[in-house]
Amino acid sequence: MPKIHVFDHPLIQHKLTYIRDIETGTKEFRELVDEVATLMAYEITRELPLKEVEVQTPVCKAKSSVLAGKKLGIVPILRAGIGMVDGILKLIPAAKVGHIGLYRDPETLQPIEYYVKLPSDVSERDFILVDPMLATGGSAIAAVESLKSRGAKNIKFMCLIAAPEGVKALTDAHPDVDIYIAAMDEKLDEKGYIVPGLGDAGDRLFGTK
Ligand code: URA
Repeated sequence: MPKIHVFDHPLIQHKLTYIRDIETGTKEFRELVDEVATLMAYEITRELPLKEVEVQTPVCKAKSSVLAGKKLGIVPILRAGIGMVDGILKLIPAAKVGHIGLYRDPETLQPIEYYVKLPSDVSERDFILVDPMLATGGSAIAAVESLKSRGAKNIKFMCLIAAPEGVKALTDAHPDVDIYIAAMDEKLDEKGYIVPGLGDAGDRLFGTK
């Protein structure tokens, strides 16, 4: 069964309130998303494997731990996912970054892949797939399929805000993908926006409308 982790850390919740606020301008919105992504990366990397090494301190030799060198990949779903990448890289700077671009076909409403660029060693990496909003789940499901079809075996999905509909759709489609969320909101509206949400994450990040 997939695990759903809601990060209720006070700093994440505080910053998320200002991310939601309609009065928050592009610059501040971008900075806050970056900061929350860093805080979420701290939580999501909690279970990274360690190995023991010997270190010479000024006092004596000691056994201590370093990361065991698991290969990680971060994959933003274009375009809003880009806003979370730098924040994650602050904590795991050696991670490789792939990109997946999807748009929704206006007739079928199905997500169509228009761009995929991933690290060459996909099957050896654990991936963090990022998109600020998990709304219907359509893009997340398609992006996970895209990663799996290229050999990815271990994928975590990370978003700021999720709707219950999106969480259900993603967990039904990909029960092996754990989901990491800063807030679980109420529902989707008739246009597919998360309520209360934050509006269009891409527009707010990039100052477009
Ligand atoms: N994508 C967004 O940017 N916002 C929503 O509320 C839903 C999907």
